[in-house]
Amino acid sequence: MAQIISEKEIKVQRDFLYKLKEYTANFCAENGRPPFAHTETYGCQQNENDTERIRGILEEAGYEFTDTADNAELVIYNTCAVRENAEQKVFGRIGILKHIKESRRDMTIALCGCMVQQEHITKKIREVHPQVDLIFGTHALYKLPELLYRTLTEKGAVVDIENSDGKIAEDIPVKRDSDSSAWVSVMYGCNNFCTYCIVPYVRGRERSREPEKIMDEVRALAKSGCTEISLLGQNVNSYGKDLDTDIDFAELLRMVNGIDGVERIRFMTSHPKDLSDRLIDAMAECGKVCRQLHLPFQAGSDKVLADMNRRYTKEQYLSKIEKIKARIPDISLSTDVIVGFPTETNEDFEETLDVLRRVRFDHIFSFIYSRREGTPAARMEFVLSDEQIHKNFNRLLEVQNEIAKQNNEKYVGKIEKVLVEGESKTDKAVLSGRTDTSKIVNFRGGYELIGKYVDVKITEAHTWSLNGELAEK
Ligand code: SAH
Ligand code: SF4
Ligand code: F3S
Repeated sequence: MAQIISEKEIKVQRDFLYKLKEYTANFCAENGRPPFAHTETYGCQQNENDTERIRGILEEAGYEFTDTADNAELVIYNTCAVRENAEQKVFGRIGILKHIKESRRDMTIALCGCMVQQEHITKKIREVHPQVDLIFGTHALYKLPELLYRTLTEKGAVVDIENSDGKIAEDIPVKRDSDSSAWVSVMYGCNNFCTYCIVPYVRGRERSREPEKIMDEVRALAKSGCTEISLLGQNVNSYGKDLDTDIDFAELLRMVNGIDGVERIRFMTSHPKDLSDRLIDAMAECGKVCRQLHLPFQAGSDKVLADMNRRYTKEQYLSKIEKIKARIPDISLSTDVIVGFPTETNEDFEETLDVLRRVRFDHIFSFIYSRREGTPAARMEFVLSDEQIHKNFNRLLEVQNEIAKQNNEKYVGKIEKVLVEGESKTDKAVLSGRTDTSKIVNFRGGYELIGKYVDVKITEAHTWSLNGELAEK
């Protein structure tokens, strides 16, 4: 059973937070402004959620936030280790910071997250990038007040990548960007050990938060006006297995569904092998649970699935999809796909395309396999050349783009309820929001609509988004 980090340990951190407040107050007295902090997040929603907690701690400590590293006293990169390019990006960034820091000695550089939870990476950073002042892993996030205070007051780098597996830190301050949508972690870690994946090594074993803690967080969010809740975990269907309770993920969904003020509930990620009928029933029966499911299949060939240690076959996956479609006919499905797993042949890859054509996902996240040191797949020999893998990857995109566009065309002429998220990235006069099925909709409207639900008539379909206009009331 997951242990909650003790009151005593949390109090130690509160005391350090107090010391940090004194530090930032002194800074303010000397400089006429508070110190600036800049954070950047790589990787998945879990990391985004961690950054929100980092920002919560920094805000309480008296930092203000800035959008660029150039004028920040404190720069924190929350890193991802899932693929090599995620790591490379961070190495590039700390290289750039080195030059900035040469003329800005007072700058503090911190790295945290999944990448630095790997010893060989931390060793390399310490050897090659002495400009990094603080390194803390995914298990040490709650200790940030202490670690940051020590970094600011002691000589030399501070490193904490200890693995405190099994522990959960509750009641850490959170600073969220959006007032209307929030991520809420329900569990941490993963026990699945898919052979390509680094996550179980850097995030540790599965541990669930107590249902009451989750409910308290969602109730508080709803009270503050937040209406869309996304429940997070690497494998949410395992929720509760490590707790002394009968509450499983299906039950948790029903509980959250009962909270006043919540209008939309999303969740990710589900592992196909654990997707239960109970969960499908809960999804179908809970009015606030969105008609959307992210169900990664990774590969279509049974041989590759076995080599990946996914513990389901193509047919088992497809039959779960059939069940879901039968129960929730207009459900929007998305998935993750890996192309170029070491043992994947061209015939195996055809099976992946076959799954795409049969399921007709609305959206896929596709990745070229990336070798992760320390995982079983890292020792497997490649059967396909790099060139062939890239060719297959491009074919996958072609097939999927066509399907996505056709799926989107079905929306044209319909009126959809959209939660307005903000201005569109490309045109500030245009608002952008999401349907219940997680489709991005762009339409003209005033920014006072941000955070609200509006009816939008869909006028045009693209591969990645829909265009529309506000529907007459
Ligand atoms: N727990 C989630 C997501 C984990 S990481 C799940 O199981 O679905 C997100 C995605 O990254 C995975 O679904 C997988 O498609 C991809 N991924 C993980 N390791 C990878 C690797 N070594 N190379 C390429 N893609 C990888
Ligand atoms: Fe990685 Fe597999 Fe766990 Fe997902 S289920 S985090 S892919 S090991
Ligand atoms: Fe990356 Fe860690 Fe998420 S490795 S994908 S940030 S759990």
